Amino acid sequence: MHLSSLLALFFFTCLSILTTNASLDPCSGSGSSSDLSVIHIYGKCSPFDPPKPSSWVNTVLNMASTDPKRFFYLSSLVDQKPNSVPIAPGQVINIGNYVVRAKIGTPGQLMFMVLDTSNDAAWLPCSGCTGCSPTVFAPNTSSSYAPLECSVPECTQVSGVSCPTGGSGSCNFNRSYGGDSSFSATLSHDVLTLGNDAIPNYAFGCINAVSGSSIPPQGLLGLGRGSVSLLSQTGPLYSGVFSYCLPSFKSYYFSGSLKLGPLGQPKNIKTTPLLKNPRRSSLYYVNLTGVSVGRVNVVLNPELLSFNSSTGAGTIIDSGTVITRFVQPVYEAIRDEFRKQVAGPFSSLGAFDTCFSVTHEQIAPIITFHFTGLDLKLPLENSLIHSSSGTLACLAMAAAPGNVDSVLNIIASLQQQNLRILFDTANSRLGIARELCN
Ligand SMILES: *[C@@H]1O[C@H](CO)[C@@H](O)[C@H](O)[C@H]1NC(C)=O
Ligand SMILES: *[C@@H]1O[C@H](CO)[C@@H](O)[C@H](O)[C@H]1NC(C)=O
Ligand SMILES: *[C@@H]1O[C@H](CO)[C@@H](O)[C@H](O)[C@H]1NC(C)=O
Ligand SMILES: *[C@@H]1O[C@H](CO)[C@@H](O)[C@H](O)[C@H]1NC(C)=O
Repeated sequence: MHLSSLLALFFFTCLSILTTNASLDPCSGSGSSSDLSVIHIYGKCSPFDPPKPSSWVNTVLNMASTDPKRFFYLSSLVDQKPNSVPIAPGQVINIGNYVVRAKIGTPGQLMFMVLDTSNDAAWLPCSGCTGCSPTVFAPNTSSSYAPLECSVPECTQVSGVSCPTGGSGSCNFNRSYGGDSSFSATLSHDVLTLGNDAIPNYAFGCINAVSGSSIPPQGLLGLGRGSVSLLSQTGPLYSGVFSYCLPSFKSYYFSGSLKLGPLGQPKNIKTTPLLKNPRRSSLYYVNLTGVSVGRVNVVLNPELLSFNSSTGAGTIIDSGTVITRFVQPVYEAIRDEFRKQVAGPFSSLGAFDTCFSVTHEQIAPIITFHFTGLDLKLPLENSLIHSSSGTLACLAMAAAPGNVDSVLNIIASLQQQNLRILFDTANSRLGIARELCN
């Protein structure tokens, strides 16, 4: 048996034993405070009953097929005026790959909210909503719910508000979303409970109506760094720190974890500075300085990697995009070096243009992302994906979609499996450490 299969079997066995002995049902939710399960939307613990894809690679291809919409959205953010941070940005992602359990109201009502690191939005479908799926938050059964008036300061941070001049009445807003959907919502306050932490007066959009099919069914929890995000609204509770470990796409049964706050975060973790772009205040930019394929440091034009806050150029870490995208010349240089080191012939599969016989996988080079102060050596499962027949392995990255003249590189979730990613906004740094988080 191959060593990696042996190792996988070993880990799987350990996990099975753990699971049995401790009766740890991965779907029951984590009991400890500020440490929540992160569930893959296509996983066993997901309540969304997605169509069971025939194979893992089809799942990824299906999910990656909606990446371009998200890519264009993320690329378009630069046009926003500085300091105007909408609570529910329009033209947002139309997929969420990972969800967390959250409770809203008193007593708490359970919702599976999509996790999104590139978004400040918090919104939930509310009862009476036209066009929402059946699971909604019922404000009239929560003793702590309060709709917000047009006159409150929070309402001025929301764009698309329809308040009369003079500012009386509910803070209602309407937003287009994902290119083909829109929703209308009332800005509201209620208690948000994550693990054992109750956050009072959490501001979110209570959705009254949706049109289109792209709205995450049980709401969205924005983990971006803008002014109305979870980190900003919780202040000292989490001190601007959280981390996640995303489970392997293949681990249908397992969940990863979201740890909120500085307690319990890894102590010895390599970090790279987080860069702040005032024109894209939600996004987590890092300084990608180079990429190695095997021992070869690929020659890349530094201007295609460098951070520029006026053009929005640079590299972000994002949880909602599935496969990593580089601006075209960067991707092509990496791919060409990779092809040079692996025996062809090469074919395409969906978004992937470098598929080759798995019999050559042994010689596939390790890909390393170089960030300031931090090298991330991608485990093979984070750089290669297998076709459903198992005969092909593909380089699981791509160029910016649609041949757009894009300036943004996105490190996406497939490349983040089984890594703990620490977002420390208090110290402006991002940490990465290997962790088996399934
Ligand atoms: C709450 O609102 C929903 C929908 O409007 C309604 O069906 C339900 O009866 C209400 N419940 C209470 C306790 O008022
Ligand atoms: C939002 O506003 C637009 C334009 O007025 C309207 O067409 C759309 O139906 C509204 N969306 C919802 C969900 O109310
Ligand atoms: C990114 O790294 C490069 C190479 O080390 C350096 O020249 C540049 O100043 C860094 N950019 C930022 C914004 O830190
Ligand atoms: C950012 O891009 C603009 C427009 O291309 C350019 O004029 C400016 O010099 C760049 N800034 C930096 C710091 O590279």
